[in-house]
Amino acid sequence: MRIAMIGTGYVGLVSGACFADFGHHVVCVDKDADKIAALHRGEIPIYEPGLDELVAANVKAGRLGFTTDLSVPVGEAEAVFIAVGTPSRRGDGHADLSYVYAAAREIAAALKDFTVVITKSTVPVGTGDEVERLIRETNPEADAAVASNPEFLREGAAIRDFKFPDRIVIGTSDERARKVLGEIYRPLSLNQGPLMYTERRTAELIKYAANAFLATKITFINEMADLAEKVGADVQDVARGIGMDNRIGAKFLHAGPGFGGSCFPKDTRALVKIGLDHEAPLRIVEAVLAVNENRKRAMSRKVLHALGGSLRGKTVAVLGLTFKPDTDDMREAPSIPLVTGLLDMGATVRAFDPAGMAQAREELPDITYCTDAYDCAQGADALVIVTEWVQFRALDLARLKQTLKQPVIVDLRNVYRPEQMAEHGFVYHGIGRPS
Ligand code: UDX
Repeated sequence: MRIAMIGTGYVGLVSGACFADFGHHVVCVDKDADKIAALHRGEIPIYEPGLDELVAANVKAGRLGFTTDLSVPVGEAEAVFIAVGTPSRRGDGHADLSYVYAAAREIAAALKDFTVVITKSTVPVGTGDEVERLIRETNPEADAAVASNPEFLREGAAIRDFKFPDRIVIGTSDERARKVLGEIYRPLSLNQGPLMYTERRTAELIKYAANAFLATKITFINEMADLAEKVGADVQDVARGIGMDNRIGAKFLHAGPGFGGSCFPKDTRALVKIGLDHEAPLRIVEAVLAVNENRKRAMSRKVLHALGGSLRGKTVAVLGLTFKPDTDDMREAPSIPLVTGLLDMGATVRAFDPAGMAQAREELPDITYCTDAYDCAQGADALVIVTEWVQFRALDLARLKQTLKQPVIVDLRNVYRPEQMAEHGFVYHGIGRPS
């Protein structure tokens, strides 16, 4: 199969490289000439474990290429994926579809033989209809079918998620399009495994529903954590106890500082707007958003409380800045409102992150960036673990205690056990567990 992938962000680059690895011929297209030049030099613009090797191997094998001009690859392709960004529109939280529509028009002009145009970007229900209309309007002669094929990969585990998906959702009623997409995913779907065919609008809704449900699960356990703290219960065990029920499931029940990232906040906001537009308000999702925003802001007060009610003249060490481990992504990271809150309350902040410090400097310029966890802890009145990087999971506790000015730890990811920290003489505050 010949594939053109429009957009070399997270989804586009990972999907393009993985499709090439299946044996397809893939050209990834991006308007950003610097990005394409970097990819030609073998430099990967995002931090994703394993992606550099995967790209290099497939470029070497002649199955993966990069260009700024979509006309040739689109003209030659049997399938064109639109994987451009759909950020939150400034002001109203709706998904900004201008990149998707611009790509659709350009693709339309370059189409030759029968081609399936597939939206992989997360787009509101009905976007596929508009993409189809734009293609017909721009190029009435074009022989094209429009499908929706949402992507469920997680940053930091993107290649594994792409190659071992729980399901692949293909939304189109066009038989030719179903055949092309079935062929593209055939390496993953011997025995028809995780392939699911549905209507286009349903596929578009599945993506939002999945993200909103997961965000709800996280927010639910986060509220249970608050209650557990008040009543003297342990939220880790509550999560385990409910997660062992197959109807609930154990995943996405890890209490923490609130969800962030490029998808959950943006997609839940967009879904709420879709609900309002169609007079089907999604009250649960609205509440999830509000609770999560409050939670992120409340985390700095947790540190304030741990330090006895005043942060003036105090130094706080922050470990982990990215919204989760194994990424350099700072989008909507809980560290941002946390650090801003600490600074507002008069604290000095030192921070360390294994991959996200370059990005963090843009968001949080007024803090000291350190070389490792121990450098970060130097002379601090409290250490706050914000992102559960593997580097922070087995810290030398004796060394840490000597390095800190006061042995106070606020562990927003429950990386450590309260008893273990007490044994080492720390004053330890986790999430939803007895201190
Ligand atoms: C998410 C979805 O998982 C993925 O299917 C979709 O395609 C894109 O959005 P991603 O944003 O990469 O992926 O990260 P994910 O691992 O889902 O974590 C999202 C946020 O939730 C992070 O801030 C994470 O720390 C938080 N989280 C996740 C929790 O607080 N607790 C959990 O149990 C799980």
